[in-house]
Amino acid sequence: MSEKQPRIRVRGLTKIFGDEAGTAFERLRSGESRAEVQNATGAVIGLDNVNFDVDAGEILVVMGLSGSGKSTCLRCINRLIEPTDGSVHIDDIDVIGLGERELLELRRTRFGMVFQQFALFPHRSILRNVEYGLEIQGMPPDARREKALAAIETVGLKGWDQHFPSQLSGGMQQRAGLARALALDPDVLLMDEAFSALDPLIRRDMQQELVALQKRLKKTIVFVSHDLDEAIALGGRIVLMKDGGVVQEGTAADFLANPADEYVRRFVEHIDVLGVVTAGDAMRPPSAVRPWQSTAEEALAILTQSGEPVVTVVCEQGRFQGTVDADTLKGAGTTALRLLLSDRSAYVPFTATLNEAVARLASGRGEIAVTGPDGTLAGVIANADLVAALARRRPTTAH
Ligand SMILES: Nc1ncnc2c1ncn2[C@@H]1O[C@H](COP(=O)(O)OP(=O)(O)OP(=O)(O)O)[C@@H](O)[C@H]1O
Ligand SMILES: [Mg+2]
Repeated sequence: MSEKQPRIRVRGLTKIFGDEAGTAFERLRSGESRAEVQNATGAVIGLDNVNFDVDAGEILVVMGLSGSGKSTCLRCINRLIEPTDGSVHIDDIDVIGLGERELLELRRTRFGMVFQQFALFPHRSILRNVEYGLEIQGMPPDARREKALAAIETVGLKGWDQHFPSQLSGGMQQRAGLARALALDPDVLLMDEAFSALDPLIRRDMQQELVALQKRLKKTIVFVSHDLDEAIALGGRIVLMKDGGVVQEGTAADFLANPADEYVRRFVEHIDVLGVVTAGDAMRPPSAVRPWQSTAEEALAILTQSGEPVVTVVCEQGRFQGTVDADTLKGAGTTALRLLLSDRSAYVPFTATLNEAVARLASGRGEIAVTGPDGTLAGVIANADLVAALARRRPTTAH
């Protein structure tokens, strides 16, 4: 966990629905199981002792099957649902402790919400829909128009401001819904299955655009989804829920490498391994590295000894420069390696997925470098390493 304070802190969050919520809560805390409490009291335990942090500027995906408590959890963050127990902080603000007026103010200034159903007003133009929140804040017409148009442009709907919702496709309507949230410039976006009603291809586009938008606008996003592919596409940490509790928290690759239990293992069973395991996960230390002023003769000797398909060449600062294969080295005598580089693009950053590594490997000479943030050589991946990484990560079937 990072040292800096998270933007949102959720601790012990519990929500029990029903008239017997109080009794149910006591029974739950005295150690009775969820099923026992629900049977005895008729109450529904929506959330039970949920804990997680959301860092400023991250997209956290709350994932789980239908009924696992995702929406309840999201709505407890800004108290659209009043939790039965536990705490929620946004920065230093104790959300649960706020009075009605302060709570409304907080929702207005800090939180934007986007739902699966776009909930646009049908008889208002896109502009007037996006302006809506600013209008009820009492912002003068010119100022709110300017803000709304900027938000409309941000979501790629420039030129559509005078149209009505029914004249827009589902994807465009959801963009308008997003613009409406962004117009208020909240620093936290709460998104509940926001793309679930969209066609798969449009949905994919929206996911990519949200990631790009988030990089630019640096919003903190809590995104509820029941779809693992969507969680992976959004690229961040995942809080996986089951029966109102958190089963595991981490990246999809973490779930794959170290599933907390059988449920998580089965959840990631059909995951696209190439899309979640990174080059950094699959790399190994290189055994044939030479500085670029080194000669072809020296490099060939090392290459032969190492059994690697290529020599990896670095500069004085250890930054990757390119690779040289054996055919190029043979007969090149004392020529410096920097004059012989056969492939300068045979690398991927260590954050790249294996999909990207495969593409590079396919067009190269059997081995690529993996680089750190400043281009320094971190490791290498040869064809055989890729196969080994896939074999290690492939979910095994239990029983
Ligand atoms: N207002 C309510 N009254 C009673 N029970 C509720 C209420 N809202 C939610 N629940 C129950 O709480 C549990 C969690 O519901 P929630 O809506 O958070 O699930 P979800 O993970 O968002 O599911 P979905 O993917 O279907 O949207 C479910 O058992 C649900 O029936
Ligand atoms: Mg839901």
